[in-house]
Amino acid sequence: MDWRARAGAPLRGTLAIPGDKSVSHRAVMFAALADGTSRIDGFLEGEDTRATAAIFARLGVRIETPSPSRRIVHGVGIDGLRAPDGPLDCGNAGTGMRLLAGLLAGQRFDAVLVGDASLSKRPMRRVTVPLAKMGARIDTEEGGVPPLRIHGGQRLVGIDHTLEVASAQVKSALLLAGLYADGETVVREPHPTRDYTERMLAAFGADIEFSPGYARLRGGQRLRATDVAVPADFSSAAFFMVAASIVPGSELRLSQVGLNPRRTGLLQALRMMGADIREENAATHGGEPVADLLVRYAPLRGIEVPEALVPDMIDEFPALFVAAACADGPTVVRGAAELRVKESDRLASMAAGLRTLGLRIDETPDGATIFPGALRGGAVESHDDHRIAMAFAAAAQRAEGEVLIRDVANVATSFPGFDALARGAGFGLENAAVE
Ligand code: S3P
Repeated sequence: MDWRARAGAPLRGTLAIPGDKSVSHRAVMFAALADGTSRIDGFLEGEDTRATAAIFARLGVRIETPSPSRRIVHGVGIDGLRAPDGPLDCGNAGTGMRLLAGLLAGQRFDAVLVGDASLSKRPMRRVTVPLAKMGARIDTEEGGVPPLRIHGGQRLVGIDHTLEVASAQVKSALLLAGLYADGETVVREPHPTRDYTERMLAAFGADIEFSPGYARLRGGQRLRATDVAVPADFSSAAFFMVAASIVPGSELRLSQVGLNPRRTGLLQALRMMGADIREENAATHGGEPVADLLVRYAPLRGIEVPEALVPDMIDEFPALFVAAACADGPTVVRGAAELRVKESDRLASMAAGLRTLGLRIDETPDGATIFPGALRGGAVESHDDHRIAMAFAAAAQRAEGEVLIRDVANVATSFPGFDALARGAGFGLENAAVE
């Protein structure tokens, strides 16, 4: 499926953004490993998180869906998973695969993790190498890519490990393996990353000590079932934050969005650019800070994005590039080489699409300079990357012509219903059969 996107109306109204992807993956995993029954409220009905739930069903966990966005997970206990009857399909989800690598490394049985074409190209040595230090045996394909063949029945030992790249996925994989290891597992990070694994393990009763950039966990513990309330996903809200900031006359309210400080780098960057985004009705939802974001159009100016913000906005660069494209003056991004190994090479994908729409983008190995200008119409590729597709849907709202966005089916991995919600807010956006 493609999208035909063009400038619509000023963006107005109040939008409910679906549940957080990172939290939804983890909620299913920990609930499955806990003793007792856990309810998950606000579960993201995306392909990525549904793939994770389907994997746990294959591992012998009973999961009920009483209504959309709810799950009741009948935990089997830390040692209660059973051998799957074939390869486990993580779909598009790097989070699913990397966290499962750690979790399955500690089981008595073998398992094979596979993924879609994009996931099958993503680097897995970042998890398999430190897991091997703990005693895990995981084979990758040539080049360190999936499928992952995990040999069960290994004795794991805790390690004290400093991550080479700031990655919540790697940290989480090691902590999950650490649950099955003898002794303590310590993970230290060059830059603090999202800490949902640590927070949620604590909520499930684990003895875990953590502070920004540090986590320590004792092996051999059991988890206790608990209910999880999933906040709305900041990364999904990001496309609407940017769209309302660049379309004159917009005033959009995004209800009760998760504002975990390890996720909100884009909010800081947009405010540095002059965006008018207010937080109202602040509350706590499932232990996470949330607030309504009231976003009004404002003229933006280019900035040098502080490198220290990069880990806190790692999923938001496609959206940031669009804000930068519509700003006054260039925006410089540095220290973001990780973008090259996401669902697509996001520096290259955004640069290519924005060039098609008439802009100059200078790419570097770890960033880019975006020179703003008038956006014209054209055909851009999503590179099968959900966030690239949604970013160009937002960009099109300021384009002079129609933007054809190719291969958008992947949006369902993280934001099912994005197109209908966007149209309701005023986006010019239509589904088009592939030509
Ligand atoms: C995620 C961590 C980040 C992020 C991804 C989700 C997580 O990846 O990009 O979308 O849920 O832990 P890295 O840990 O590779 O930076």
